Amino acid sequence: MTVKAVVFDAYGTLFDVYSVISLCNELFPEQGAALSQLWRAKQLEYSWLLSLMERYEDFWQVTEKALRFACRTLHLPADAAAQARLMDAYLHLDPYPEVLAALAALADTPLAILSNGAPPMLSAIVANANLQQTFAHVISVDEVKIYKPSPQVYRLAAEKLGLEPATIGFVSSNSFDIIGATAFGFRTFWVNRAANPLDELGFTPALTISKLTDLAYMMRET
Ligand code: LAC
Repeated sequence: MTVKAVVFDAYGTLFDVYSVISLCNELFPEQGAALSQLWRAKQLEYSWLLSLMERYEDFWQVTEKALRFACRTLHLPADAAAQARLMDAYLHLDPYPEVLAALAALADTPLAILSNGAPPMLSAIVANANLQQTFAHVISVDEVKIYKPSPQVYRLAAEKLGLEPATIGFVSSNSFDIIGATAFGFRTFWVNRAANPLDELGFTPALTISKLTDLAYMMRET
């Protein structure tokens, strides 16, 4: 069946959350990789915990709290100015190098972003990457006040696009997101850049690709 629209995850799929490593290293020499990894892991964990607790806080707050926890865990003396710089870096994450070419190859299909990011965070990264004209919709979980992989999040995107889930291609590099989107009924494309094993949760993507630039022709093949 033809895909009528393609919905992308943002963080980790289009934008490299580890592009903060250089600033982390500048502030805390040789701690950049450890800090950025723990920061990202805690950010996701907090999003899941708050969702289970039914105590939604937006992704900016979640990201700040995860940063504070990661710095405390690694004994990094991050004062308010350092924290502000690191948070600002989150608004300027680099798109992966192949993003522009991959999106250009899909130019005849409506494109959207569906992300945990709070609306101002998403506006900033999209604008900073000059992608404002590329996406018909930039959709934030903030509208439903719960995080991925809740089906409420994927339903929000299907409703906004006015399409049946099975006709929507959903692209993410985050396996938990791919599993949630597959369970919901999207046609899923897992961007598995690091050749990681898939989580054992019983749902598998329609297709696994190693880079975003494979998307356009692989979508036509399947
Ligand atoms: C997002 C998270 C999954 O962008 O990275 O929604």
